[in-house]
Amino acid sequence: MSVAHGIRKLGVLGAGQMGTGIALVAALRAKVPVLLHDRSSEQVAKGLSLVDKLLAKDVGKGRLTSEQAKEARDRITVVGKEEGIKGLRDVDMVVEAVSESLPLKQAIFSEFAAELRPDAILASNTSSISITKIAASAIPKDVSAASEAGKKIAERVVGLHFFNPVPVMVLLVHQLAEDTYTLWNDPARLLLRVAKAEVTVSKDVPGFVSNALLMPFINEAIMHLEKGIATREDIDTTLKLGMNHPMGPLQLADFIGLDTCLAIQKTLYEGTGDSKYRPSILLERMVDAQWFGRKNGKGFYEYP
Ligand code: CAA
Repeated sequence: MSVAHGIRKLGVLGAGQMGTGIALVAALRAKVPVLLHDRSSEQVAKGLSLVDKLLAKDVGKGRLTSEQAKEARDRITVVGKEEGIKGLRDVDMVVEAVSESLPLKQAIFSEFAAELRPDAILASNTSSISITKIAASAIPKDVSAASEAGKKIAERVVGLHFFNPVPVMVLLVHQLAEDTYTLWNDPARLLLRVAKAEVTVSKDVPGFVSNALLMPFINEAIMHLEKGIATREDIDTTLKLGMNHPMGPLQLADFIGLDTCLAIQKTLYEGTGDSKYRPSILLERMVDAQWFGRKNGKGFYEYP
């Protein structure tokens, strides 16, 4: 397959905080041209303005010259909503970074398989959803998953889990689908140039280590608040100053997004049936109230 030589063009679907970060580090550190697509042009504008801000900060700090920043910025091209996923048709690899919803990801991967090159790698930045389920959705209805053709399509699907803020966090996690599906190491390696450390999770279990461990921790902090055991500040300060965490768990939940935390917790709970993953009622109510955390100004804290 031609892609084994590396990625000449990368697609990123979703211009939220994760997709924007992935597009930036790929353009800046892996120096690959990136096609960035989101169905919301407002989201793209927001994402690009963050890219510009981060590049300008690096120039200001003397880490990049203005030319290097401009070169990186010029490597990112927006694919508009009129063109849709079709606009990504000539990429060697695409990374999907949309919200944590299985039906949404299934629809996207089925469209990827129909519209993208047959040798393109299809990666998902999912934080909890099974890669096997996502891979299966890339197989057209009229192709048997057990056939060679079906397996070939599914083998193109990999999980590449980045952490927020992508430009700062050094880790990239590979997630493998079930045994029948293999990870294509070469393209994943290329994207590893954007990270500094990697781990591989070789069982397709909900949460892929990171969120399987993080979410019960965050949820327990929310339950402590719910039960009135301590204030939000005291819970966060305990973990920040007592355990040297960069952020307290409630601040981190706001940072990740409360809607995202809830979606991950639901996937973990549904996928395992284990009560330690059951979302707290307070988190459910906050998301019902549309308090999504930092991204829209209100969560456990306010962000004017
Ligand atoms: N995007 C890009 N860069 C950002 C950023 C953002 N949203 N927020 C902060 N930064 C950068 C700053 O620009 C600064 O960069 P420089 O060193 O180049 O100046 C650097 O991060 C440090 O920022 P600050 O000094 O302003 O603040 P800080 O020291 O408090 O660090 C932080 C901020 C890096 C976010 C730190 O608090 C931290 O590491 N928090 C924990 C983050 C974390 O755990 N992320 C994983 C979440 S889980 C996940 O993503 C997976 C999932 O599936 C849910």
